[in-house]
Amino acid sequence: MFTVGSFLLTAVLGLAGYIISKFIWQIYFSRSNGSRIPGPPIINEKEGNLRELRQAETLSTYIEGLHNKYGPIVLFYMGPQPVVSIGSAELFQESMQSKLFDRPEVLFKPPLVEVITASSIQLTNGPEGRRRHALYSHFFNATAKFFPQFQKCIDEISSSLAGSDGPILLKPIAFDLTLSVMSKCAFAGVFAESELTRLISFYDLWSSDIEKKLKGRDIDEGTAYPEQIRKIVEDALSKRRRGEVLIWAIYFLAKQPDIQDKLAREMRQNLSGSSENWEIVPEDVERLPYLRQVLNETLRLRSPGPFAARISDKSHQLGGFQIPPNMPVMHAIGYVTHHQAYYEQPQSFDPEHFSPENVQKRHPFAFKPFGFAGNRMCPGNRFAVQEASVSLALLISRFHFRLVGDVTATPNVGFVTRPNEEIWVTVEPRR
Ligand code: HEM
Repeated sequence: MFTVGSFLLTAVLGLAGYIISKFIWQIYFSRSNGSRIPGPPIINEKEGNLRELRQAETLSTYIEGLHNKYGPIVLFYMGPQPVVSIGSAELFQESMQSKLFDRPEVLFKPPLVEVITASSIQLTNGPEGRRRHALYSHFFNATAKFFPQFQKCIDEISSSLAGSDGPILLKPIAFDLTLSVMSKCAFAGVFAESELTRLISFYDLWSSDIEKKLKGRDIDEGTAYPEQIRKIVEDALSKRRRGEVLIWAIYFLAKQPDIQDKLAREMRQNLSGSSENWEIVPEDVERLPYLRQVLNETLRLRSPGPFAARISDKSHQLGGFQIPPNMPVMHAIGYVTHHQAYYEQPQSFDPEHFSPENVQKRHPFAFKPFGFAGNRMCPGNRFAVQEASVSLALLISRFHFRLVGDVTATPNVGFVTRPNEEIWVTVEPRR
């Protein structure tokens, strides 16, 4: 009797809890006029929309499809977990009001994104996350100090390109360059030059090697940025952006030689001396507006970071809806940068999308490749732009890149946007 009674009580309480929680979600997901955040129907409570999510190539492609169908704010279910995604410049701007910093772990775990270690800054929230973010920003924002290293690495790559006499793969060039820049800039002072060269050449062993080395090593008091370096190592271990910007930029420029030549002309007109011994300083980059247009267009069309996300333990407003506490909100960065509401011919590579007139006409939040919200935008943004600028400036002014065959590289839009195909190029010195 007692068992039946407690069973009935549990069942009644369970049912009541279910109805109340349903009711609460209804309130949260409804506008004051009763309309709900649009989104796909779910087949059952446990699965949510997981089946369609699995069928889509990646989470990014899934939410792009949802925004196309349901509009700028959508609600979907990853299993029982509801997730909101926003996909318009206007909503990006509005979301700034709630100043959200924390990142929802649920969206940054395998298999949705490639492995990010638990200790990574990407998954560190609260005061510790803010402290680490500030350290990164402090270290990477002072980009002028990195220019000699950029130059050195690009000069080395240029020498090996000058000696090449047949088709070469683009990925290893961009990959080696990014790794050597990253190692020399972030780890100089911790590793000797010879060790760095070894680390770069054994990339597969790179992460564990650095980790072992740092664990066994006391970094002297007074070493430049010891704490930053340790933290950067942790993230370097999980970092998955390996020169994709350079790969895409060279690919697009090889595909459209007139744009490549226009860029080379800009360099020749604005930098004095010969391209072999140009030493680029930060002020030079300011004098190359077309270079910045080309770079922005590459970041727009092949967003290296196609989405960001936030979570809060408090309820907040978005697009007229009340978002409940602990609800992950995705920012569909890549979707917005491909949207025809902001860009004419959004699927074409056209640096004129970033002409001063077009930039002025556009909503400022329609181009946010480095994220935007809650003082947690990419702390490597200045570093990434300056490194890519110097790399492109020197490489394009020294060489003419041509595609081998009529290749069309399609994007694989995951946590990072990579080409699906291998891209072969020939490299000829520019006269
Ligand atoms: C073009 C290249 C890059 C792009 C487009 C990019 C984009 C992004 C985006 C969208 C985020 C998430 C921001 C958010 O949550 O609002 C991010 C975070 C981050 N990026 Fe980048 N990134 C790039 C290169 C770099 C580089 C070169 C570094 C290091 C030098 C770097 C370090 C980081 C770190 C540490 C975070 C996490 C910050 C945190 O959690 O507080 N990124 N990046």
